[in-house]
Amino acid sequence: MKSDSKENFDLRKFFPDEEQRRIFAKVFDRSTISAVHSLASKGYFDVLEFVISTGKEAHVFRAVDSAGHFRAVKIYKIETTDFKHMSKYLEGDVRFQGVKKNRRDLIYAWARKEFKNLLLLNKAGVRAPLPIAFKDNVLVMEFIGEKGQASPILKEKPAKDVKKVHTALVDFVARMLFKVELIHADLSEYNLLNKGEELVLIDCGQAVLNSHPMAKSFFERDIANISKYLNRHGFKTTEEALTEEIRSKKSLFKK
Ligand SMILES: Nc1ncnc2c1ncn2[C@@H]1O[C@H](COP(=O)(O)OP(=O)(O)OP(=O)(O)O)[C@@H](O)[C@H]1O
Ligand SMILES: [Mg+2]
Repeated sequence: MKSDSKENFDLRKFFPDEEQRRIFAKVFDRSTISAVHSLASKGYFDVLEFVISTGKEAHVFRAVDSAGHFRAVKIYKIETTDFKHMSKYLEGDVRFQGVKKNRRDLIYAWARKEFKNLLLLNKAGVRAPLPIAFKDNVLVMEFIGEKGQASPILKEKPAKDVKKVHTALVDFVARMLFKVELIHADLSEYNLLNKGEELVLIDCGQAVLNSHPMAKSFFERDIANISKYLNRHGFKTTEEALTEEIRSKKSLFKK
């Protein structure tokens, strides 16, 4: 009971809301609490206000810092059922060679990988959340939303002008490929936020460098998803045409 009360004490500090505290305590272990503690003590956020999304692999919270700035805090579940698929994206990425294969180390590497990928996306000029900090399985990043309301995914809120989606996606993929040699590898209407008609690319843990042995097939899958989305929304194109448009940007973006 003693350790219980300590846990409750710590959690109460980060989760003033009882319901949110209960959600967290059900899913996360002590080491996650200590990572949350460590990031909060450095001032990256003050409290975790509520869950924006509960998924198979991660929960995303809206947090707020002492100055009242919102943050998004993504916490990967250590007990994620799908951790084995992560090694496919980690092995073969030269930045992550030698990562141990146990569940915890893989998930920590995944969070670190998402942080680094977000840095690269921002460097390339792709609109994506600015990464702020990470510790173990906890990632703090820019909150994407308006007036405190998290932006919906493109799947839930299709863009008013599909032509703009086409232009933005060709630009995003070309910048990623030619400026920082990155393939998103899970590009779809589920991982794009529609922030007042501006597209924001999220969920970058799986993104790999172009030197990854499976980079080509990941790239082709991304293009196929984009093509399907655009055609379904009335913008007629093909995978070949999209690939060609992206290639034609090479001289613009290549260093
Ligand atoms: N920076 C952010 N700002 C606002 N909302 C966010 C942000 N990052 C993620 N979200 C919200 O959280 C949801 C899940 O995030 P994300 O796609 O990164 O996780 P995921 O890996 O798909 O999680 P899972 O597969 O476990 O559902 C998003 O669909 C979005 O609603
Ligand atoms: Mg996602």
